[in-house]
Amino acid sequence: MTDYQIAPSILSADFARLGEEVENVLAAGADIVHFDVMDNHYVPNLTIGPLVCEALRKHGIEAPIDVHLMVKPVDRIIPDFASAGASYITFHPEASEHIDRSLSLIRDSGCRAGLVFNPATPLSYLEHVMDKVDMVLLMSVNPGFGGQSFIPATLDKLRSARALIDESGFDIRLEIDGGVKADNIAEIASAGADTFVSGSGIFGCAQADDPHRYDSILRQMRDELERAASI
Ligand code: DX5
Ligand code: ZN
Repeated sequence: MTDYQIAPSILSADFARLGEEVENVLAAGADIVHFDVMDNHYVPNLTIGPLVCEALRKHGIEAPIDVHLMVKPVDRIIPDFASAGASYITFHPEASEHIDRSLSLIRDSGCRAGLVFNPATPLSYLEHVMDKVDMVLLMSVNPGFGGQSFIPATLDKLRSARALIDESGFDIRLEIDGGVKADNIAEIASAGADTFVSGSGIFGCAQADDPHRYDSILRQMRDELERAASI
């Protein structure tokens, strides 16, 4: 059975209590921490950097941290995130002048490397670097903000990416990011994704000051993934 992994995007968490939010969502069964880095240049929003990644590690977070760089350029900041405790570092091909070099830099820094595809970015960027990626991330919204709706055309793109990965024989995760909720996660899994970023779909679901408030949404997502696997 596919090893499905759920990656809550902390963009929708309560930043004033970030360590606690991450602990609670992991305790509820999440697998990976999705960490959105925006620079108000490559995307029109500004978020968090290596200091916050390091703070989560110092707080005791041991789960993989999946750093999604929406910054341009990318190379200068890669070693900083590696030192700050990143596990995956993914970037958008449009944001790097030298994609092969950036991918190698990530792996040489001891992290797993990934390429991110905007809704209109062709998968052909993968053609000559398949052996250098550990993660392919398809955006199912235009990057920059949480809470947008899933773009349905991404399902066909997921099927194409799944075929490319399977044909390559490399061990590459296929992640989806944007508008993923409990009510569409099964369909997205059936199209080939194995790693699911969800921000507002998880953090937006529970406001109460209860450490178990993410249990029910994570359980719903897992049930839906089991359903997808059994079809
Ligand atoms: C958007 C970010 C996403 C975002 C997803 O640019 O890359 O990770 O947090 O948020 P939701 O799940 O709310 O669409
Ligand atoms: Zn993201």
